[in-house]
Amino acid sequence: MKAPDSKTIDKLRTAAEQAMGRAYAPYSSFQVGAALLGSDGSIIAGCNVENASYGAAICAERSAVTAAIARGVRSFDALVLVTNASEPTPPCGICRQVLVEFAPSLPVTSFARGEQATWSLAELMPQPFVPDSMERA
Ligand code: THU
Repeated sequence: MKAPDSKTIDKLRTAAEQAMGRAYAPYSSFQVGAALLGSDGSIIAGCNVENASYGAAICAERSAVTAAIARGVRSFDALVLVTNASEPTPPCGICRQVLVEFAPSLPVTSFARGEQATWSLAELMPQPFVPDSMERA
């Protein structure tokens, strides 16, 4: 799947930046914003939400996926991430697993301090465990 045009990426980036500004990250001070492009054209954002019980934190990517599912959007064409890291960061392993369930070849674009990187989720998550995997057991 190809990354969308730069105008769409800009819109997703704006939504991710806004969500990043609302991140609740008092423990790591690492704020993350995510914006998913639904196949219906909708843009659904998420941010990381930490907790005093550290393991209860949820990443921005999963927060965007759960918001999308609750809205009835289950098919995605792109994901944009925004952080203030020194270089663009990819989704963590748990988020890759959650994303691959719905969009195995999702184009992921990450922005950090003016820099930009794009990967395919298929490249970030080779040989994934997918719904079909259980049929093969
Ligand atoms: N985080 C994300 O939101 N997305 C990622 O892909 C990596 C990590 C969050 C989780 C935690 O709140 C903070 O960044 C530091 O790990």
